[in-house]
Amino acid sequence: MKIALFGHGAMGRLVEERARAEGHEIALVITSRDAAQDADEIAAQLRGLDAAIDFSVAGAVAMNVAACVQANMPIVIGTTGWREQEQEVRRLVEAQNGALVFGANFSVGVNLFYRIVKRAAELFVGFETYAPFIEEAHHSRKRDAPSGTALKLRDLLAAQYGERDISVASTRAGFIPGTHRVGFDSAADQIMLAHTARSREGFAAGALVAARWIVGRRGVYEFGEVIEEMLKERMNEP
Ligand SMILES: NC(=O)c1ccc[n+]([C@@H]2O[C@H](COP(=O)([O-])OP(=O)(O)OC[C@H]3O[C@@H](n4cnc5c(N)ncnc54)[C@H](OP(=O)(O)O)[C@@H]3O)[C@@H](O)[C@H]2O)c1
Repeated sequence: MKIALFGHGAMGRLVEERARAEGHEIALVITSRDAAQDADEIAAQLRGLDAAIDFSVAGAVAMNVAACVQANMPIVIGTTGWREQEQEVRRLVEAQNGALVFGANFSVGVNLFYRIVKRAAELFVGFETYAPFIEEAHHSRKRDAPSGTALKLRDLLAAQYGERDISVASTRAGFIPGTHRVGFDSAADQIMLAHTARSREGFAAGALVAARWIVGRRGVYEFGEVIEEMLKERMNEP
């Protein structure tokens, strides 16, 4: 694939490294230096490329999507902290028949962890003595808190627990690549489910999986749906 990168920080550079190792070409890199350009100007540079991968800043996401839709090019968004704009971004992509994959966490393991948490919530919701809670920890450079992954975990719990208040605690310190814990606490005991990222390479690998998958497709998908589709395709293989 010929890939455009929005953002060339810690994640953008990892995606670049991995993409090159997989034989892809990084044809364009957009950073804060290009922030003065509008969607038309960025779209003009995107034409002829296969996919864009965005690990930039929340404030740039809507415009990056607009540029990709205009250039008729799929985009994978790894950037977090833009959930308030999700409806607007979805409308934009759907109205113009574009293609988008987004995910607060591109680790395959986390997406399987979501399924485990969903099942745990289904079990625990029947026992009022257990209170659900979430803890997350990341490196001190991470800007948004709670993390997008923690918000997704809260949504999974809220689907079972409705309006019940679910505590979410965030830690920002040092170099932690990303830890998420979901607990169910009672007077008698505690059950703790945890996902611990060892490095950020898994996120870059997942973003490239999503980019390969979205090329040639239309619509808006969350990364979890991509994993689900891939699992189905594998099960149908002879
Ligand atoms: N979904 C996942 O699996 C996952 C995993 C890890 C991180 N993330 C998220 O990915 C995002 C980036 O993380 P990071 O650690 O790579 O951050 P980072 O190191 O701070 O890099 C951010 C990059 O965005 C660029 N940028 C700033 N304004 C821009 C604009 N208007 N247009 C285009 N690029 C712009 C910056 O440019 P300069 O270099 O010029 O400053 C920089 O290259 C964060 O939202 C983070 O939460 C998601």
